[in-house]
Amino acid sequence: MPKVTIDEKVVDVPEGTNLIEAARLGGIEVPHYCYHPKLSVAGNCRMCLVEIEKQPKLQIACNTKVAEGMVVKTQNPRVEKARRSVLEFILINHPIDCPICDQAGECKLQEYYMKHDLAVSRFPIEEKVHKDKAVDLGPWVMLDMERCILCTRCVRFCQEVAEVNELCVSERGDHSTLTTFPGAKLENPYSANVVEICPVGALTNKDFRFKCRVWFLKRTESVCPGCSMGCNINIDQNEGEIHRLTPRVNEEVNEHWMCDEGRLTYKPVNQKNRLRFAKMGEKDLHPDEVLRAVREMMTGVDPNLVCGIGSAQFTNEDNYALASFLKELGSSHLFYHRFEPAHPSVDDYLIKADKNPNTKGVSTLGFKEIGGDRRFKFFFVLGALPEEALNRIALEQQKKVILFNPWDEETVHYADTLLPVGTFAETEGTFTNCQGRVQRIRAAFPPPGEGRPVWQWLTHLTRLFEKPAPNYTTAPALFLSMANQIAAFRGLDYEKIGNQGMLLKG
Ligand code: SF4
Ligand code: SF4
Ligand code: FES
Repeated sequence: MPKVTIDEKVVDVPEGTNLIEAARLGGIEVPHYCYHPKLSVAGNCRMCLVEIEKQPKLQIACNTKVAEGMVVKTQNPRVEKARRSVLEFILINHPIDCPICDQAGECKLQEYYMKHDLAVSRFPIEEKVHKDKAVDLGPWVMLDMERCILCTRCVRFCQEVAEVNELCVSERGDHSTLTTFPGAKLENPYSANVVEICPVGALTNKDFRFKCRVWFLKRTESVCPGCSMGCNINIDQNEGEIHRLTPRVNEEVNEHWMCDEGRLTYKPVNQKNRLRFAKMGEKDLHPDEVLRAVREMMTGVDPNLVCGIGSAQFTNEDNYALASFLKELGSSHLFYHRFEPAHPSVDDYLIKADKNPNTKGVSTLGFKEIGGDRRFKFFFVLGALPEEALNRIALEQQKKVILFNPWDEETVHYADTLLPVGTFAETEGTFTNCQGRVQRIRAAFPPPGEGRPVWQWLTHLTRLFEKPAPNYTTAPALFLSMANQIAAFRGLDYEKIGNQGMLLKG
């Protein structure tokens, strides 16, 4: 591995690494706009200029590979002067409309100006070139042409990641502008990723723009529940209202991206029809009353008439807690249901046809897909059952359904007892994606009303049945119990799952 000296720090870096990444490995940030680790090098912004010993001119760090013995300076007066000049040039025609710009607070122009420049413009404001401020590029993205610094990250993203020719730069000089190809729209299934990679506020997400200043957002690391790929995401919320989901880097799963469809999976969390209180029939009841009524209803029931219906939409922990509860009742009848749209989107990159985040997890826990078995009378169910599944279990009047659900939906009229639980954004636990990778989701905020995790309801119920209470009181303890009981989870450690996830055994 070549050794390079960057700002007097010696770093060992793999052959072929460019100087931006080499500096990053040494804990040094080289400012840059057009460079992105997952895209080809364009070298057009010149923000990453550095000094390399024995080379007369400053060089761009993004397009310079390390060589043994290289000595690099990223912070001397010559480099700093060049940086200031580049910033002055980029800002010549910039509209400086930060107060109304959605990028404010996470904008690389703001950040680098404050850190490296702070000069007053020598260019009269009246002479700035004006361009269109609100260009509709496609279903997700708006363009402000005046804010674009022509780094071409978005153009390269479309060509190299989405593999479509939708964006290009046309015209010359200060008339240059980002645009769509004639007749084309920015409408590939990954189109909104250009918003995050745009280093400035030129591209904004229609779903997010003007909704919330970024400094009010609180960020929680999670996993997209939109399909079995389990792309890593951030949930950005303010006071319990989710404003956006953005991709989080996991090179083993989604690299740096997520699909547009996945970005919408937060909408049901914010919906008004959340189930807030436990219910029997139409009545809201105190949770203890409901649990006692369930306990009474189940007294003396033949365990062979009881089944648990888990869900590929719920976490491993919730499904495991259901299986453990059923075991205490003496039943081993475990089935699961999943969401199956008629025409699921699919491609050969991230988007999977299975629109459930945890099909692999629930089946690994021993649940079978709902079949045509009609003998059961009592059903403990996670999540509203789709029509298909309802037909298969042939619910009639005398059958009893205890349903754990986040929403108070009309379609759940068949449930005798409703218990409010959290959505993916309000739940601590894990999903197992289609690769068999166990990944953590975290609660961004608690569920509304008396909602609580499935496993908490079930622990409470187990106690009422005078069975030994399960040995878990938190999601990590529940995971440990699962890892001890289920062979495929053996040896996995909740705390070590970290950002990459951990693969199931075997
Ligand atoms: S819109 Fe953003 S990402 Fe695209 S070229 Fe302009 S500044 Fe770069
Ligand atoms: S590919 Fe699947 S998991 Fe990834 S963002 Fe889209 S819906 Fe979510
Ligand atoms: S990041 Fe190197 S030239 Fe733009």
